Amino acid sequence: MTGGPATPVACDLVIRGASQVCVIPPDGGGLLAADPSQLGIVGGGALAMRGGRVVWAGPESLADRALGPEPDATVIDASGCIVVPGLVDPHTHLPFGGWRAHEYSMRLGGASYLEILAAGGGILSTVAATAAATDQELLAAGRGILDEMLAGGTTTVEAKSGYGLELEAELRLLRLAGELGRTHAARVVPTFLGAHAVPPLYRGNADGYVEVVLEEMLPAVKRFALAEFCDIFCEPGAFTVEQSRRVLTRARALGFGVKMHADEMSQSGGAELAAELGAVSADHLLFASEAGAQAMARSGTIGVLLPITVLSLLGDEVDAGHCRRQARMLRAQGVKLALGTDCNPGTAPSASIQLAIALAGRIFGLPPVEAMLGATRHAAQAVGLGGQVGTLVPGARADAAIFGVPSYEDIAYRLGGNLVRWVIKDGRVVHCPGGPPAAGERLVS
Ligand code: NIG
Ligand code: FE
Repeated sequence: MTGGPATPVACDLVIRGASQVCVIPPDGGGLLAADPSQLGIVGGGALAMRGGRVVWAGPESLADRALGPEPDATVIDASGCIVVPGLVDPHTHLPFGGWRAHEYSMRLGGASYLEILAAGGGILSTVAATAAATDQELLAAGRGILDEMLAGGTTTVEAKSGYGLELEAELRLLRLAGELGRTHAARVVPTFLGAHAVPPLYRGNADGYVEVVLEEMLPAVKRFALAEFCDIFCEPGAFTVEQSRRVLTRARALGFGVKMHADEMSQSGGAELAAELGAVSADHLLFASEAGAQAMARSGTIGVLLPITVLSLLGDEVDAGHCRRQARMLRAQGVKLALGTDCNPGTAPSASIQLAIALAGRIFGLPPVEAMLGATRHAAQAVGLGGQVGTLVPGARADAAIFGVPSYEDIAYRLGGNLVRWVIKDGRVVHCPGGPPAAGERLVS
């Protein structure tokens, strides 16, 4: 990785003079997650890409000799900046219709999240707003959010259905997610979350709705190849552990990877089930038990923490000290942790993975190294793309974000803005101040 090969490495995009290139090798090599060497930092580094793949990462001092840029190669002068893998957001609820500012006001007035859901609001009000929106409106809203994510350095976005809650409506959302992925520069990984809430028609009969998910939805999602993963909201008020086991076992048998909204607002054994089923991730985990965490560490199930959601639920549902203790417990048990935005109109009206990284320290006490791993290597693993994205080792997808800060620690430290200068996806500059670069252009900060 750092040697100067005899024949210069051909490249069509090269990033020079960065204060740090965080290569983030996909395998932690048995080091503790908090060890900064996990990030594979090249101080004073350069990075080269060709044909949509990373081809070389190494010290700037070797770049002149090592690299053979093609005549019209794009060159980015990244002095004073750092280069990290394109960030991965492993948990979002795109696409959806409308926002829910009025419920936020209700919650400040004393109503809890689950009370609003039980009264037919919450997820169910977004289901209604989504049904009322045209495909064009949902696509436009989804593109707007993906634009914001991409400009913030996120190049891979998991996207869950779950605001349909009946067959055609769920298939529609997955098709729209697929269309977003085909037409937007961000990579979209679709997840089927038909079991997101019990729809009004099945009120008091969650088992009846589970049958629909099992017998109608899952086979159709499979037949049309609309999702990679199947998720479920396992929580009192939504679906029980037993119902979750049924849905996810069937999903697994059909070839879907499985994910869970687990132990978000109470301890129900979600983490244990995720581990038992070999889920790729269990998300939220605010009330996961120690035994569940241990089991997840053993099964290699990634724990996805969602600090923006925590910020929204602080107060009635969760308290800050509890979150910190919980994260300490998960880390002590050896659970690999990822970070996501949870972008949704109820608990996380934000597209900013940078905000999630910055809050991960404040809310979960996650050190900057672990926060960076959480938005790269571990998030990639949580969407089944470990080793392909979330890393800049040669051979990986050429997705990178260049931040106008001197160290990765600044990303975790700074709060609330967008520190990104350029974003590259599949070897193409997709976010650039002043518009897309011309062939062979040299970009300077
Ligand atoms: O991850 N917990 C369930 N689903 C979302 C919230 C969805 C909504 O409120 O619309 C979550 O927090
Ligand atoms: Fe969620």
